[in-house]
Amino acid sequence: MEIYELINSGTSLIETYRDTELAIKFENFVAKMQIYNSAIKEIRTKLEILDDEFSIKFAHNPIHHMECRLKKPKSIIDKLEKKGRKTVDELYDIAGVRVICNYIDDIYQIADLLTRQDDITLVRVRDYIKEPKPNGYRSLHLIVKVPIFLAEKTELVPVEIQIRTIAMDFWASLEHQLKYKTTHEISEDLRDELVECAQSIYNLDEQMQRIYKKIQES
Ligand code: GTP
Ligand code: MG
Repeated sequence: MEIYELINSGTSLIETYRDTELAIKFENFVAKMQIYNSAIKEIRTKLEILDDEFSIKFAHNPIHHMECRLKKPKSIIDKLEKKGRKTVDELYDIAGVRVICNYIDDIYQIADLLTRQDDITLVRVRDYIKEPKPNGYRSLHLIVKVPIFLAEKTELVPVEIQIRTIAMDFWASLEHQLKYKTTHEISEDLRDELVECAQSIYNLDEQMQRIYKKIQES
């Protein structure tokens, strides 16, 4: 039995630990999750440091707030099955950090400053702000690798970072809720309306950005 099946099945931990091979797999899985959690902490701290520096130097906080999450075992299993993959090492979103910024420019500044750091490797960028998803979704997605220094080795751990404005987050949160509220497909009319909402929200983002710039210049 694989570890994912184990978590899914009703096998108790005591039974698991009677089977040495399974016990080792279980411990390895827990240790792995611990490392992903450390990667979240590293990224979070790096971003907090950048935000602190901005606040002192420019009296501006680019980051409104952050949300961090470690993917749950059940979601890991579902995703592995969906993508036809075998191990968590093949997934890039076990560790997730969502950065909610005040203005559009803050998003790119934060992304740039983070990815230029010596120990950060940029694996993938998906700019859903320049090219929104057909449903209207906007955010900048980065996959980065961050080194985690352990007692006997250093591991390069992938973290998925989603960077968006408060306004983009407002839309994404409600759209996410709506998707999970219904079991059937959302009608085309409502889908169109959601795309329209996303566009209006983006117009507001641009307007707020312009106001902020003008006030700064004056
Ligand atoms: P996943 O298999 O879903 O992880 O997709 P992916 O690996 O192709 O990555 P993608 O960049 O499309 O999106 C990953 C994550 O972004 C999702 O898990 C969501 O948190 C968020 N996301 C992407 N598209 C949408 C969307 O249409 N609506 C909302 N609310 N969130 C989205
Ligand atoms: Mg995902």
